[in-house]
Amino acid sequence: MPSFMHVLTLTLLSGFASAASVIPSFPGLSVNKLNLVEANMAKIATHSWELGTLAETLTELKAPSLSVFSPFDLPPPRHLDSKLNASISEVLDLVTKVIRAKSPDSPTFIDGDGAAADPASLGVAVLLTNWTRTNLSDTSFEVAASQQLNHLLTVVPRADNGAISHREDQVQLWADFIYMVPPYLAYYGALSTGNESIALLQEAYDQCRAYREILRDADANLWQHIVLGTGIQDYTHWGTGNAWAAAGMLRVLETIRHSKVSSKFEGQKANLTSWVNEIVEATWKHQQTNGTLLNVLDDPNSFADSSSTALLAASTFRLASITHDYTHVPAAVKAFQLIEDSLTEDGWLLNTVDPLTFNTPSQPGVYSPEGQAFTILSAVSMA
Ligand SMILES: *[C@@H]1O[C@H](CO)[C@@H](O)[C@H](O)[C@H]1NC(C)=O
Ligand SMILES: *[C@@H]1O[C@H](CO)[C@@H](O)[C@H](O)[C@H]1NC(C)=O
Ligand SMILES: *[C@@H]1O[C@H](CO)[C@@H](O)[C@H](O)[C@H]1NC(C)=O
Ligand SMILES: *[C@@H]1O[C@H](CO)[C@@H](O)[C@H](O)[C@H]1NC(C)=O
Ligand SMILES: *[C@@H]1O[C@H](CO)[C@@H](O)[C@H](O)[C@H]1NC(C)=O
Ligand SMILES: *[C@@H]1O[C@H](CO)[C@@H](O)[C@H](O)[C@H]1NC(C)=O
Repeated sequence: MPSFMHVLTLTLLSGFASAASVIPSFPGLSVNKLNLVEANMAKIATHSWELGTLAETLTELKAPSLSVFSPFDLPPPRHLDSKLNASISEVLDLVTKVIRAKSPDSPTFIDGDGAAADPASLGVAVLLTNWTRTNLSDTSFEVAASQQLNHLLTVVPRADNGAISHREDQVQLWADFIYMVPPYLAYYGALSTGNESIALLQEAYDQCRAYREILRDADANLWQHIVLGTGIQDYTHWGTGNAWAAAGMLRVLETIRHSKVSSKFEGQKANLTSWVNEIVEATWKHQQTNGTLLNVLDDPNSFADSSSTALLAASTFRLASITHDYTHVPAAVKAFQLIEDSLTEDGWLLNTVDPLTFNTPSQPGVYSPEGQAFTILSAVSMA
């Protein structure tokens, strides 16, 4: 991992001081503060995608060597030493609770309130729990994982270009899907062998490609939020939607890169990298002077949203650590400073969008589980 402090110093020394010199000091969150933010998230995460995002966030925060962003090859170790076992225990406990509560014939890990994609956000953690389990006669995790996979691949309806619907009852695409499903398909592939491995990694990539084909607006290089189908639609360039897309594609990219068959996917990895970069580059053009992004990225009448600001900063740090192109890091550092300043003493992120309406700020005293998670992801991505 490169140190972004080092990069900023170099930027300053090499004369490109204007962007970097407004940054008063290298920001960072103490471990205590991060633990508060995390405990708060765990308190308020209830929906399926919030639990899945919590599991991913806990992995990146507490057991980073088991995250796809670590430099280690996949699959992960089968046997966890006691230190690693303790670090990942909250994730394993969360998954165990979810799978114990699941009825054996349910095709999904958990109820998704009509969303086909959201339950799958728990999938990487379920696969990790299966892979590292000590009770080898307990097949419940792998049975659940295979039911969830088959449901996504063979039951959920698809758009004409092959995009698996975000919803169960009709074909409708949400940018959120990219964080919920492709990372799961890819991780399943990286833990499989032979043709299945290649087919699932390819499917993860194909879903990103198919979603981008439909959701991306070429003139803005940003993604719409919800299209096709009936009922709710949102054609805006929603900050959180673009953040889900960028962060999800990064997880797929890293899973492919650390898989045994990485060398068979050169073109796919290059495309994923450029698709993440496309969002990151378009995003920071709309950054406000205090570092924030707006809830609808390119709508000046929209309101400031710290949640999407945090996940887009996280994605910018992650991308830079892969490509070693640090162009957008100063913007993301400035955004991170705003996130740090938007945290209360007791670890709640202020000025978030209400993640259930998409288009209104959170009510005073109400906090966003996503905002809590994205704060942690931005901090661990910068480290
Ligand atoms: C791992 O941690 C769990 C608690 O989360 C504990 O029950 C189990 O015995 C530990 N396993 C090992 C191998 O240390
Ligand atoms: C579950 O874990 C076992 C190792 O204990 C592994 O052989 C199997 O492939 C895993 N299943 C999945 C779906 O990853
Ligand atoms: C291991 O899993 C099997 C199958 O679920 C179960 O019957 C058994 O009680 C478990 N063993 C332990 C030690 O938990
Ligand atoms: C894997 O794919 C190759 C090429 O398509 C095919 O020849 C082979 O039979 C497949 N193997 C398995 C185990 O499905
Ligand atoms: C990468 O994207 C380009 C441009 O859209 C496309 O022509 C190419 O087929 C893609 N590569 C792969 C491996 O999908
Ligand atoms: C940052 O600036 C935006 C306007 O560009 C404003 O709406 C928002 O309240 C500011 N945020 C903070 C934390 O001052």
